[in-house]
Amino acid sequence: MSRFIIIREDLVQDPLTIVTDGLLIGRLQLCELVLNHPAVSRAQAGIKWVDDVYYLFSLRPGNPPKLNGRALEETEALAPGDIIEVGPFRLEVDREDGALQLKVSLQIGVVLGEHDSDVPNLRTTKLLPEAPTEGKKAAKPRAAPLPGNKALDFFWDKRIREAGKMVRPSPLFPKSQRRSGKAQFSWTPTSDLARRWPVSFFIWGAVIVGALSVSAAYWYANAYAPAPVSRSHAVANMEMNPPIAVKANADSCTNCHSLTSSTETKCASCHNTEAFVATIIKPHVAAGIGCVSCHAEHQGSEFNPAHTALVTCTACHNDANQSTYNGRRVSTPHQGTFGYPVVNEKWTWPGLDDGDWALKKIAIARLPTDSDEQWRSKQFHSLHVQRVRSGPGMRGNLQGELSCSSCHQSFNPIDRTTPRTTCGECHNGRIEQGSNRVLIAKDKPNCTSCHVQHVRDIRTWNPSLFAQSGKGK
Ligand code: HEC
Ligand code: HEC
Ligand code: HEC
Ligand code: HEC
Ligand code: HEC
Ligand code: HEC
Ligand code: HEC
Repeated sequence: MSRFIIIREDLVQDPLTIVTDGLLIGRLQLCELVLNHPAVSRAQAGIKWVDDVYYLFSLRPGNPPKLNGRALEETEALAPGDIIEVGPFRLEVDREDGALQLKVSLQIGVVLGEHDSDVPNLRTTKLLPEAPTEGKKAAKPRAAPLPGNKALDFFWDKRIREAGKMVRPSPLFPKSQRRSGKAQFSWTPTSDLARRWPVSFFIWGAVIVGALSVSAAYWYANAYAPAPVSRSHAVANMEMNPPIAVKANADSCTNCHSLTSSTETKCASCHNTEAFVATIIKPHVAAGIGCVSCHAEHQGSEFNPAHTALVTCTACHNDANQSTYNGRRVSTPHQGTFGYPVVNEKWTWPGLDDGDWALKKIAIARLPTDSDEQWRSKQFHSLHVQRVRSGPGMRGNLQGELSCSSCHQSFNPIDRTTPRTTCGECHNGRIEQGSNRVLIAKDKPNCTSCHVQHVRDIRTWNPSLFAQSGKGK
């Protein structure tokens, strides 16, 4: 083991004695002699003791140290009084009790290259006295350079590798390069020494937030709904045949609620099939009455949005209802009687418009000679006579169908009194097909049997009333 005494004049430190088998000089923090300047290589030079002689080694052929002003080729023996230059640093060599002493100073303001031959020139031109020879250990003549030596190459390779590998990354992750020279002493506020958030924090954060939002959308959605949706909208398969919806709703929220379109648009787009199109009558459209005015939702799974719609008519069409709908008022219809409107002793049925009439598929067309009243009478009579079965307490023809005498007792003059009493035989009350559940009491009017709300629904309120099976045949 050789000894090195380092005197850092540049850092104003106490002399330091290092015992090592080879002194590594460079910018790396793990070099024995750290010279921190960008012009200094990571491991630029080394000094090793071989047979009582200290040799200087150039470890970076591209950036060799200078010995007495000359760039060092490979190795050179060191003698007291030698000057080594590494970047802007100047190392004065001396021997002391077998140890090698290096006095390090920084040549501030020296432009590299300018002073190339400074010291040697002085010496060779004898302006400076020869290095003192008497009494000093430096009296020995300079030893010859070492011949090329594989073992020494390996030695330095290993040292450099170790020094490089062992550099611990700064836990502070500075963003910018370390400054050099005087600049490193002028204080500037910096945020780049904050400890970075480990990436794993973000990944785990994202995973947890993602999982929470997915599960919230899954479970909390139902908790957030005011009440469960009706069974018809909760189940995953459709029951009616022919189908009245494009697909089952299967308890989805977004089929009815979305940011891009209104609930009504959503209802209408799903309820749009061959057998059922969710149309709304013109007076209701004009009054701003939509699906949700008649079909509520979130009333529990027992709730049936179609059945309850049947009773909304009287709840809204009521003298007591003070609300206005697009500026329109409502009142109790046909003077509180059920469905036979007579105004000033005259039967006032407006009849069906051309589109609705065409849907009935009845082969009777309006003649050019027909007055409005004659055409409405033709519509009414052809909707009922020989098309509809006679009611329970009514006379009918041999086939049990409505005939002229079912309603008219006499024809000359025409009996107008009896027909006015017949309507309730068929248009009052309603029971659910299949289950026979009473939806509208027998003595209450079935509003939608006369005022059909969904004209493009092939189902009818009471198929058993038709003479032939099915409506429109
Ligand atoms: C994703 C499609 C879809 C949407 C959107 C949808 N429904 Fe339905 N609706 C259905 C299905 C499926 C049925 C049950 C049909 C069956 O069982 O065959 C149904 C049944 C109904 C019924 C009849 C219930 C019964 O059992 O008689 C009404 C009334 C109804 N929906 C109204 C609405 C209204 C009002 C909206 C908008 C608020 C709406 N629907 C939105 C698919 C939908
Ligand atoms: C069949 C259609 C339909 C489905 C499916 C549906 N909703 Fe609704 N929802 C409605 C209707 C209709 C309203 C009443 C809107 C109105 O009054 O304008 C409503 C209202 C609401 C409201 C507002 C209640 C209030 O008092 O204003 C919330 C919240 C809501 N729904 C959440 C949900 C959630 C969560 C789901 C899924 C579990 C869901 N809905 C599924 C049709 C539906
Ligand atoms: C003025 C009230 C009213 C409005 C508005 C209304 N409906 Fe209806 N709807 C009813 C009534 C009443 C029934 C019960 C069947 C009948 O007797 O016509 C019904 C039945 C239904 C049915 C069941 C059909 C069947 O064959 O069982 C569906 C589906 C439906 N409506 C969807 C809608 C949709 C979608 C809208 C909005 C575009 C809408 N309704 C607007 C009153 C209304
Ligand atoms: C939320 C209130 C509301 C509900 C529910 C409602 N309507 Fe209406 N209805 C109106 C309004 C408002 C008008 C427009 C009145 C006007 O134009 O003078 C109207 C118009 C009508 C008309 C046309 C009247 C005319 O002067 O030609 C008929 C028929 C009608 N409704 C029947 C029904 C039936 C049948 C139901 C039940 C399935 C029903 N309405 C449910 C509010 C409602
Ligand atoms: C037997 C068939 C029939 C029944 C049932 C019936 N109506 Fe009418 N309704 C008519 C006829 C016909 C008219 C007269 C023509 C018109 O004004 O539209 C009429 C007129 C109306 C009008 C507009 C004129 C007015 O007086 O305001 C409304 C609203 C109305 N009905 C609502 C209802 C409601 C709500 C029910 C259920 C409680 C109902 N109708 C039951 C046949 C019926
Ligand atoms: C479902 C009951 C019903 C049946 C069936 C029926 N009518 Fe009528 N008829 C009426 C009603 C309602 C009126 C209008 C009465 C009034 O003015 O209040 C009427 C009016 C008439 C009128 C008077 C003109 C008019 O339209 O006001 C004649 C004529 C007539 N019916 C002939 C017949 C003949 C012929 C048959 C058999 C082919 C027949 N009716 C079957 C209910 C019926
Ligand atoms: C014997 C049973 C029966 C009697 C009585 C009866 N109707 Fe009807 N009515 C029906 C049937 C069934 C339909 C359905 C026809 C269809 O949809 O093709 C109907 C259809 C109608 C319609 C047309 C509804 C639509 O599809 O737009 C009106 C309006 C109507 N009836 C009014 C009356 C009036 C007013 C009376 C009393 C004068 C009356 N009906 C007596 C069975 C009857």
